[in-house]
Amino acid sequence: MILSVLALLFGYLCGSIPFGLILTSLSGVGNLRAVGSGNIGATNVLRTGRKDLAAATLLLDLAKGAAAVLIVSFIATRRLPPLAAWPPAPVLAAALGAFLGHIYPVWLGFKGGKGVATYLGCLLAVAWPAGLAFIAAWLSTAFVSRYSSLSALVAAALTPAVLVGLHQTGAAMLFAGMSALIFWKHRENIARLKAGTETKIGKT
Ligand code: G3P
Repeated sequence: MILSVLALLFGYLCGSIPFGLILTSLSGVGNLRAVGSGNIGATNVLRTGRKDLAAATLLLDLAKGAAAVLIVSFIATRRLPPLAAWPPAPVLAAALGAFLGHIYPVWLGFKGGKGVATYLGCLLAVAWPAGLAFIAAWLSTAFVSRYSSLSALVAAALTPAVLVGLHQTGAAMLFAGMSALIFWKHRENIARLKAGTETKIGKT
């Protein structure tokens, strides 16, 4: 129990690093909150016109989730995932912590991002085939629709079923909850998608 709480806190600290804000601020791009959707993720960094910063934000937001899971997994089990159908609780706690840290970072008054890249990083670390399925779902939806938000929603909706198919029952339950939070964080995107006013990838 104590190890799970520590893992949750460690994951939270990793996840709460707002790389999109840090990179755009250090690069003199300006206030990311005043750009596009105001989100701190890679999709909105791309709206600044800086593809390099958007790619770096995507990779770092993904890496902080993966690192939290892999480090805790190695400390708790001396093994790296994929683990059993029910991974030890600290491993799942680290994933949850990183995801919540990105969405509700204490440093930003608990107003963070929408969690998609960090979700993917955790997923790749917990069960990499499910992570690849997420990427395939995201890319194919983006190819057809050009909407980042819709792509994330489709991939997040499919992930729990993919994990069940991989017999990763514990992870499936955790990621189902995390997918629900992704949907909640995208409620304004969903309204814009319904109204036909959502911004396409790379557009401002
Ligand atoms: O990953 C975030 C994406 O799904 C939506 O971002 O900036 O268009 O709200 P944004």
